Amino acid sequence: MHDVRPARLIDIPALMEIRASVRENALVALRLSREDYVQALTVDGRGFVCDVDGQTVGFVCGRPSKGDIWALFVREAYQGRGIGSALLDVAEAWMFEQGLDALMLTTAPGTRAERLYRLRGWQCEGPAGPAERAYRLLRPTTTGRPAR
Ligand SMILES: CC(C)(COP(=O)(O)OP(=O)(O)OC[C@H]1O[C@@H](n2cnc3c(N)ncnc32)[C@H](O)[C@@H]1OP(=O)(O)O)[C@@H](O)C(=O)NCCC(=O)NCCS
Repeated sequence: MHDVRPARLIDIPALMEIRASVRENALVALRLSREDYVQALTVDGRGFVCDVDGQTVGFVCGRPSKGDIWALFVREAYQGRGIGSALLDVAEAWMFEQGLDALMLTTAPGTRAERLYRLRGWQCEGPAGPAERAYRLLRPTTTGRPAR
């Protein structure tokens, strides 16, 4: 049974550890500090984490001030059981509640993440740097479908 809850500053070491543990969309050039997480989770946006049996296994962070999903990561051993989707459900809903009409993110082509975003209605906007694509999700209409 997994439980999604708001992220707290005390979670940051676990979030950094999860982010460093994944193979796809791994950080190559960019080194993120604790301060980067504090900024993302408290000033620019909010985060949500997923706990399984008391262990934090995944997290998402959305930044209304930038209009983007800054991070979505699930430990390898816990991938493929709906945790990423559950985290995105909460983060997308929260971002739209903040009044945004569209959300952005970037991800590497051919990854599980890219498949998941496409399945959820995110539209590819084109390349974003040498090894990334930009995706956009429009605010759902009352029919539940993204607006056109
Ligand atoms: C992208 C990521 C966050 C998705 O998390 P996840 O928990 O694996 O996501 P889900 O389980 O919700 O969905 C992924 C897969 O499980 C399937 N799935 C979803 N719910 C499921 C369920 N209840 N039972 C079984 N399978 C399920 C989905 O169909 C999907 O299948 P596919 O990958 O074979 O196409 C995770 O794979 C990850 O951390 N990847 C590495 C880092 C990364 O790329 N992050 C994104 C940066 S932009």
